[in-house]
Amino acid sequence: MKKYYITTPIYYVNDKPHIGHAYTTIAADIAARWKKLQGFDVFFLTGTDEHGAKIVQSAQAKGKTPKELCDETSQYFKDAWALLNIDYSGFIRTTDQKHEKTVQLITQKLFDKQLIYKKQYEGLYCVHCEKFLAEKDLDENGCCPDHKKPPVIQSEENYFFKLSDFTEKLISMIEDPKHPQHLEVLPEARRNEILGKLRLGLEDISISRANLQWGIPLPFDATQTVYVWVDALINYISAIGYSDDTNTFEKYWPAEIHLMAKDILWFHSVIWPAILMGAGIPVHKSVYSHGFFTINGEKMSKTIGNIITPKELVDKFGTDASRYLAVSLIPFGPDGDISMQALSHKYNIDLANNLGNLISRTNKMTEKYFEGKIPDCQNFDDILTKKVAAILENGYGQAIESMQFHKAAEIFQQAITLINQQIENDAPWKLAKTDTVKLAQCLFSYFQSTALIAMYIAPFMPALSKKIWTLAGADGDFETVSKKYFADKIIPENGFCPRGNKIGNFGIMFPRIETDKK
Ligand code: MSP
Repeated sequence: MKKYYITTPIYYVNDKPHIGHAYTTIAADIAARWKKLQGFDVFFLTGTDEHGAKIVQSAQAKGKTPKELCDETSQYFKDAWALLNIDYSGFIRTTDQKHEKTVQLITQKLFDKQLIYKKQYEGLYCVHCEKFLAEKDLDENGCCPDHKKPPVIQSEENYFFKLSDFTEKLISMIEDPKHPQHLEVLPEARRNEILGKLRLGLEDISISRANLQWGIPLPFDATQTVYVWVDALINYISAIGYSDDTNTFEKYWPAEIHLMAKDILWFHSVIWPAILMGAGIPVHKSVYSHGFFTINGEKMSKTIGNIITPKELVDKFGTDASRYLAVSLIPFGPDGDISMQALSHKYNIDLANNLGNLISRTNKMTEKYFEGKIPDCQNFDDILTKKVAAILENGYGQAIESMQFHKAAEIFQQAITLINQQIENDAPWKLAKTDTVKLAQCLFSYFQSTALIAMYIAPFMPALSKKIWTLAGADGDFETVSKKYFADKIIPENGFCPRGNKIGNFGIMFPRIETDKK
C-alpha cells in the first residue's frame, strides 16, 4: 500500500489554540482524509512544542511550573482538535519520553560525526522567535521585526552545529528536481527566497543553551540543554518511533509534506534537512508554507482582542462548516485577511444557499411526490450524475493534493450549482402535473448526484457528508463505497441510492446566518 506522511508544526504551549493554528491543522486533516480515500496508508502528525525560554517565561507569568503549563495547554490543543473533528494518527509532545530519547540519539550522532563543536558566543536573542537575530535583521527601533520587542544579549559557551557544511548540498537538492533527494519547497516564490539566502552562505548555528534548565540535556554534556528548535524539529521522526523497534519509522519516513506558515519555513527547508543529512537520515520530500492571517486587516493579538478561537468558529458555524470555511475563504500560500463577517458571508452563499437549498428541496419534493422514497423509475441514462462526476473529477483531487482548498471548494460549488440549475430547468413541480415518469427520473438523478457530492466533500465535512449519504437513502458503508468509487470511478448501475429506499428528514442543515454583526 502506498504511504503518505503529513505533518503540522508542533504548536508552542504559551498560547491557546486560535484560528491560525486551526488553519494549518484543518488543511493537513483534509489532505490526510483525501489520501485515505484514495487508498493510501496515511500517518498524520500534530502536537505541541513544550521546551524553551518562552515557555518558562510564560509559565512564570501565570504562576505555574513549565510542566503544569505544558499539560494544561497541550490539552487545550487536543480539545480544540476534537471540536474540529481532526483525525490525527499521532499527537507528539516534546516532553514525551520517546521524543527526549530520540533528540539525544540524534544529537549524539551529530557529535560522533564531528558536526558539533563548542565555542564562546555572544548574540542578540529574541525569546519570542526563539532564535538569534543579526544586527541587520532588526527594525529601526532595534527590535525584532516580527515581535516588535528588543532582543536580549546572550553570551555563553555553546555547542555549535556545522550548518555551513551543508550549503551546497541544500542548494542543489532544493533547486534540482532531478536530485535523488530533491526537497520541494513551496510556494515557488518562497523557495526562491530560500535559495537566495542560501547563496549568501550559511553560518554555523548554536544548538545548545548553558543557562536554560527547561530542555533536553545534551547526551555528551548534561550541563547544557538542546536548543528548542533542534529539539522541536526532531519531533517529526520521534513521533513515528525513530528510537523504538516498531518499524513505523521505516514505514512512513521520509515525510511527504511538512505544512507550516511562512515564518518557520527556513527551519524546515534548511536547518531540518541539514540535521537529517548530518545524522545520515533521508530528507523529507516537501515543505509547503502558507501565509499569515490578519483579522479585519489587523494582526491577530490578545491586546487588540481580535483572536478567533476554534470554539467561537464551531459555536457559530458548527464543526463541518467551520472546517470548510477556514480553508476555502483564502488561497493557501499568500497572506490573507479573514473576519467572522467574511466567513458568514461565504457560509450563506456556499452552504446555506447552494448546498442547503439542494438538499432541502430534493428532500421536500420526494416527500411530496414519492412518499419519501427514491422514485421507482424506469432505467434511463442519468446524464446529470455523469456531468457532476465529470466536474468533480476535473481538478478537484489535484487541488486538494496541492493544498489549493479554495480551488477544490470552487469546483465543488460548481457541481452543486449544476444540479440546482438542472432542478430549475426540469421544474419538477410542473412535471408533477404533466409527466410523472420524467419526474421520477429527475428526482432519482438528483439523489445520485447528491450522493456523489457527499463522497467528494467528505474530507472537508466528514460528519455532514456521511449524514447526507445516509439521509439520501444511499446503500452501503459510506467509507467503503467511497473508496471503491475513487478506485474505479464507476457509478453503480442502480445508482448509489437504490430505487425504493426510504430517505430521511434532512431538516435545515445549514441555517442562514445574519451577516451584519460579528
Ligand atoms: N513551535 C514552533 C513550530 C515548531 S515545528 C517543528 C512554532 N509554533 S507556533 O505555535 O508559533 O505555531 C506556528 C504555526 O501556527 C504556524 O507555522 C502556522 O502553522 C500557525 N499559525 C499561527 N498563527 C498564524 C496566523 N496568524 N496565520 C496563519 N497561520 C498561523 O512556530
